[in-house]
Formats: sequence, structure tokens, C-alpha cells
Amino acid sequence: MPHTFVIFGASGDLTQRKLVPALYRLHRKGRLPADTRVVGFSRTKFTHDAWRVSLADSTAKHVGDDFDAAHWATFAPSIFYHAGDIGRNDDFASLARFLAELEASKSSTRVYYLATAPRFYEPAIEQLGRSGLADEARGPRRVIVEKPFGCDLASARHLNAAVHDVFHERQVYRIDHYLGKETVQNLLVLRFANTIFEPVWNRNYVDHVQITVAEEVDVGSRAGYYDTAGMIRDMFQNHLLQLMMITAMEAPARYAADAIRDEKVKVLHAVRPLSGEPVRRDTVRGQYRGYAESAEVKRGSRTATFAAVKLWVDNWRWQGVPFYLRSGKAMSCRTTQIVVQFREPPHMIFAAGPKSAVESNRLVIQVQPAEGIQLHFETKVPDAGMKLRQTDLDFRYQREFRGTIPEAYERLLLDALEGDASLFARADEVEAAWSICDPILDEWQRSDEPALYVYEAGLWGPSECGDWMAAQGRQWFDICPVLK
Ligand code: BG6
Repeated sequence: MPHTFVIFGASGDLTQRKLVPALYRLHRKGRLPADTRVVGFSRTKFTHDAWRVSLADSTAKHVGDDFDAAHWATFAPSIFYHAGDIGRNDDFASLARFLAELEASKSSTRVYYLATAPRFYEPAIEQLGRSGLADEARGPRRVIVEKPFGCDLASARHLNAAVHDVFHERQVYRIDHYLGKETVQNLLVLRFANTIFEPVWNRNYVDHVQITVAEEVDVGSRAGYYDTAGMIRDMFQNHLLQLMMITAMEAPARYAADAIRDEKVKVLHAVRPLSGEPVRRDTVRGQYRGYAESAEVKRGSRTATFAAVKLWVDNWRWQGVPFYLRSGKAMSCRTTQIVVQFREPPHMIFAAGPKSAVESNRLVIQVQPAEGIQLHFETKVPDAGMKLRQTDLDFRYQREFRGTIPEAYERLLLDALEGDASLFARADEVEAAWSICDPILDEWQRSDEPALYVYEAGLWGPSECGDWMAAQGRQWFDICPVLK
């Protein structure tokens, strides 16, 4: 069956930076289903050709050396444009006619991608319903909704209800691009295609888990948006909690969308609710120096650009094991990593002087940019008595596999075209994630709000966060990845 991929918000930044480059790369690798057409919809007036030319430029810019004019020339004829306004019923009626014409009134799988500003998600969905575009008489109809999915639990519920008025849940693909990252999928493989990790992946062996998403860049040109969102909405509700779910979930019975998502959502339901005083005790927030003076940021803004949160997963596997989630802008380096810190040996028979203090085993999953996994363990230094030192087993994607790691959007767009929702968030998952975040946001917004620590750009966030960890007898692993 042919496929039609319709992008709402076609003249926007996401379309140029991520969506079309991903579709182009899939085309170039021969992975796009045969007979896939891409249709752009937005208010800007373009002819098909003018849009193709503008996309050729933006795609060349964003895919760099992967751009090949000859391949583009074979892709461009399958790209179309239809100008219209999400607020106008007539424009949807004419889009429906245009799509039917393009598909010669034959059956076709259609994927609608909402790449608009979030305030247009609901009207766009209503219009898809009203104009019959969600009707599946002529093939599957799916909708991909970009993040942010709501800005709190109430708005997420409201949006889910609006979506479900028009689409069945099986037709809805809520995107979180972290799930499309190779290394995140590999965490499922590491855990569930090997036997050696499972026996130790629990409270008996794990002391704590650290999940860090550090970015070297500051908020830059997205300051206007960022100032209204902040760290918890922008990164925790989605990416950080997704990484935590994959780390903490039980093995699903099979690799199938609902089996995986059932297990993920159970993790969120097991998270001990934080509210009131515990929010103050178990979170640290910061803002890099200069943020509040940036253009488009409200003077005196109290928006966090750094946050650390300690969560407890109250179930048999994880009881008593804290999960530390941390993310910041303007940090030392760009790195996303999950550190599983194992317990100390129960009884140490080697003398541990100050220099040879035994460090416990540590599994570091480097999600990006030095994709890989390191297992740290103690070893005997040769010819030095019983002196011990940590060393590691070091797996690196770049050494092991040839070629570049694909962009997350490639995998996710292809999965949506093929009807596999395993790597997309389900309605209950998104709502459960907001239930964890809302009380933190509430506490941070009170008039007697907790401290907002200022940190210098280029560090690992506020020093108070290190003190907070030290007070719990632990330390952050501030590791900038070595790219080799
Ligand atoms: C986005 C956030 O979802 O993820 C951005 O809105 C953030 O603020 C980005 O920079 C990080 O994604 P990645 O893939 O670069 O780690």
C-alpha cells in the first residue's frame, strides 16, 4: 500500500532541521516504503517546486556530507505542498481533496505529523476529524504529536481527550526523540538479550542510578519558549523519565508496543510521589549566570536551566535505590549518560589505604555523543603489592560498527509509517509522567519557593548540587566523554 506523510507546520524549523532530513536519509538508504509521498501543509504560499527548492537547501545544510544532489533529485518529485490555515474548515476540505487526488482515490496509509506550535495541536486534530481525514475506510490513519504534550497534567488530559475524540489510541504516536536514539534502544538489548546483567539489576546489587543529560549550549535563540517551559517541562517530563523507565522496567513478554509500554508505565506508577517538603529536600534547581538577562527572557526570571531530582521507585526490584536525574544547559560538555553504581563488596580483604580505596563497580551507558558502554571494575596493579586500581571494559560504537549512527527521527518516522508504536509514548504514560512533575513545578512556583542557585556557564551546574549529593554520602560522576 502506498504511504502519504503529511506535515502540519511545514514551513517551520522542525520540518527543515529534522523531519525532511530524516525522510531524505531514509530514501537514500532505500528504507522508505515504496511509493511514499510527503505533503507539506502550512500558511506560507509555496508552489510544489518552490517548496522542493527550499527543502533542497535546508536539507543540504542539515545533512552535510550525506547530501547528494542526484539522490535528492529522485526524492524531490515525491514531495508536494498544499497551503492552508489550520483554523479554516475550507482549507481542510481542500487538503482532503488534494490528498485523494494524489492517491488517485486508492487506499493509502497516511501519517499526519503535527509539527506546529503546540497551541495548534488541538485545532488541527479537530479539523482532521471534521474533514474526514481520520477515517480509515481507505487505509490506516495515524497522527504523530510532537512534544510538549501538554504543559501539566490537566492540559495533557485535555489534549488526550481531544485526540481520542478523533483517533483511537492505536492511531496516536506521541514522539519523544530520545526513544529513537540507538543507544536507548540498545539499553533494551543490553538488559533483555543478555543474561548476565539481570541477576544484579536490582536493590541487592545496585546502590543508586544517575541519569544525566548535560548540554554545553545555553538556551540561545529558544529563550522565549524556554522561559515559559523550564527544565522540568522541557527535559524531565519526557526525556529523563523515558531514560529512567527503560533503565528500571521489568522485561516485557515480547517486543510489542503495548507489552513494552505496560512495563514502562508501571515504573512511573511506582515512583513515590514527591510534593511539599520532600520536593525541597529531594530536588536542586539552578540557573546559569546571565540567563535572566538574555533577550526574550523575562527580567528577573526564576526559570530553572538546571535541575537535579531524586526519585524512589517503590517496588520489589528497586526499593531503597535512589534514581538521581539531572539535566542542565550551559554545562561543561554535552553528554547523556546513565550510570548504574553497584554496591561495595560486603567484606573487603584487601587493605584499602587512602590512595587505593576500593571503588565499587559501575556500569556507564553513554547515550551520546561517545556512544558506548563501560564496565568499571577493580584490578590489581602489577608489581605493586596488593595495590588496586579501577579499570574498565570499554565498548564503543565507533570502534565496533562502521558508518554513522542514524538520527533518532529516522527510526521513529519509519516506525510510524510502518505502524510500530513501541518507541512512542502512550496516553497513560504521558499523564503519569506529568503526575510526577506537576508537584515539583507547584512547589517551585510558590511564593516561598526553594532556592534557585546561580551557576557559572561551563560547570556541572551549581556547586550546591554537589554538596547535596555529598550530604547523602555519594558523588556525581561528572564525566565528559572522550571522543576517540
Ligand atoms: C529537546 C529540548 O526536546 O531536546 C531541548 O526541547 C534539548 O531543549 C533537546 O536541547 C536535546 O536533544 P538532544 O537529542 O540534542 O540531546
